Amino acid sequence: MWIYVDPSRSTNNSDIPVLNQTTTQSLVEIDAVDFAYGKRAILKGISLNVPRGKVVAIMGGSGCGKTTLLRLIGGQLKASRGRVMVSGQDVGTLDAEAMYAMRRKMGMLFQFGALFTDMTVFDNVAFQLREHTDLPEEMIRDLVLMKLDAVGLRGTAKLFPAELSGGMARRVALARAVALDPMLIMYDEPFAGLDPISLAVVGQTIRRLNDALGATSILVTHDVMESLQIVDYLYFISDGRIVGHGTPDEIRASSEPFIKQFVHAELDGPTPFHYPAGNYAGELGLAPSKAGTP
Ligand SMILES: Nc1ncnc2c1ncn2[C@@H]1O[C@H](COP(=O)(O)OP(=O)(O)OP(=O)(O)O)[C@@H](O)[C@H]1O
Ligand SMILES: [Mg+2]
Repeated sequence: MWIYVDPSRSTNNSDIPVLNQTTTQSLVEIDAVDFAYGKRAILKGISLNVPRGKVVAIMGGSGCGKTTLLRLIGGQLKASRGRVMVSGQDVGTLDAEAMYAMRRKMGMLFQFGALFTDMTVFDNVAFQLREHTDLPEEMIRDLVLMKLDAVGLRGTAKLFPAELSGGMARRVALARAVALDPMLIMYDEPFAGLDPISLAVVGQTIRRLNDALGATSILVTHDVMESLQIVDYLYFISDGRIVGHGTPDEIRASSEPFIKQFVHAELDGPTPFHYPAGNYAGELGLAPSKAGTP
């Protein structure tokens, strides 16, 4: 477990400046964040830390606000309360130029993010490098081939996305997400729709890329089994709040009802199988429905 040290509460009164331990330890710090779309509250007082160099999973049911949380970290959305700090900077207060510089250091694999179908694999991975840098084409070529090699797909450089399997396309998307050597890589549902073997390969690739690049990664997913294999720490969100967190070993051993339901894929638990509904027999016309039910 990582320990959050709040430098403002330091008792160090000497003239030596206090080392800001939160920024040296954590790349991302989310502190008591609320967020609502209009009047609909999505995140309610979320706090979490992503230590440098680690891979951290954020898990939770569909619609609980995982993609929203990534958008807050990426600065596309602003928290209505609380702070989102990335590399010691408060993302909510950055001006356009500082935000642009910050985003350049973030790699993102978007949920449902597809490759550009009219470009080769090579050009897909080169896209960000051409957009964001003035590097000469020979250097771009070397960087693209290195990234493709890192995901095991250097041999596909001349192919078009339609010529790849789903798992290969996802790995090319990983290479594209890390083209600019980001300090922070965010993956939104990188396993969706993959067969078990491709899924494991993508999982291992996420871990290897993080460690090889010396990056920090946030992995948003429903796939608890794969996450337990590859991440350092997991957070579980339900109803806009963190309802559990721990290392993979702590999560496997947890007796918290929500975590147990999630890890063991139990049908019923704190998250009920049935969406609230009226009297079933009454709705089917088999028995008079109770007063107050539709
Ligand atoms: N732009 C938007 N405007 C209004 N409501 C939104 C918007 N984007 C998302 N929502 C709502 O906010 C809630 C959280 O959405 P979000 O996409 O963050 O969920 P999620 O946890 O990523 O879900 P999933 O696992 O299905 O991807 C959902 O109920 C969604 O309907
Ligand atoms: Mg989502």
